[in-house]
Amino acid sequence: MSNISTERVLSVHHWNDTLFSFTTTRDAGLRFENGHFVMIGLQVEGKPLMRAYSIVSANYDEHLEFFSIKVPDGPLTSRLQHLQVGDELLVSRKPTGTLIMDNLLPGKHLYLLSTGTGLAPFMSIIKDPEVYERYEKVILVHGVRYVSELAYGDFIDGDLQQNEFFGEEVAKKLIYYPTVTREEFRNQGRITDLIETGKLFEDIGLPPLNLDDDRIMLCGSPAMLKDLCAMFDARGFQESRNNNPGHYVIERAFVEK
Ligand code: A2P
Repeated sequence: MSNISTERVLSVHHWNDTLFSFTTTRDAGLRFENGHFVMIGLQVEGKPLMRAYSIVSANYDEHLEFFSIKVPDGPLTSRLQHLQVGDELLVSRKPTGTLIMDNLLPGKHLYLLSTGTGLAPFMSIIKDPEVYERYEKVILVHGVRYVSELAYGDFIDGDLQQNEFFGEEVAKKLIYYPTVTREEFRNQGRITDLIETGKLFEDIGLPPLNLDDDRIMLCGSPAMLKDLCAMFDARGFQESRNNNPGHYVIERAFVEK
């Protein structure tokens, strides 16, 4: 059996000029944990061109979903952005990644901090009923430049809360905090500044970060990860490494495709 399966595109949604998402069929044998990523791609000149993508759909969903930027001269995304329903997509059979709940020590509040397409793995995690069993509050922060980049906002505020199995838990426990840096919006500023000044915690009504209660997952650009990791390290938070649980865990958003 090849280590790559060939799936079919079922739907494509363009959020704006720079972001799109799409769903595909899912191989019956594909297993993954919420928060994992997988290599996906296209046949280009007879060879598979593959890049890592976090899986947006939950591990119980029938279909796969991905969220991507469009890089005009990106080897893969310059092609991927033209995907049409019915097209083929290559998907590796080995999902993996560090952004999984078991990599965190027990805690009360789970902070999911993302910028740009770094939102993707957290979409999968907020659809996992177990996250609401483990935590009293789940705080999803999505930092973007422009309002049009706040993908999935309507789903998070709407459909997810209506989920027939765990919608009530979502409504009680999930706090969605979108923030925009380059135009007017109800929340503004970089995640780093919102944490440093305490504005984030004032706005959501939770105490400032503390080691006993707070656990953190990070996914975003290398610059965002570097700055946030430095802040957490300075506060005594320990990163999970080699599957040893820690106070926080990181994954690079897979950009520049
Ligand atoms: P800004 O507009 O001030 O650069 P990008 O598309 O460049 O990855 O940025 C996505 C979001 O992340 C933007 O709101 C951007 O803010 C913010 N950002 C960029 N660098 C950092 C950083 N080092 N720490 C926190 N947020 C960042």
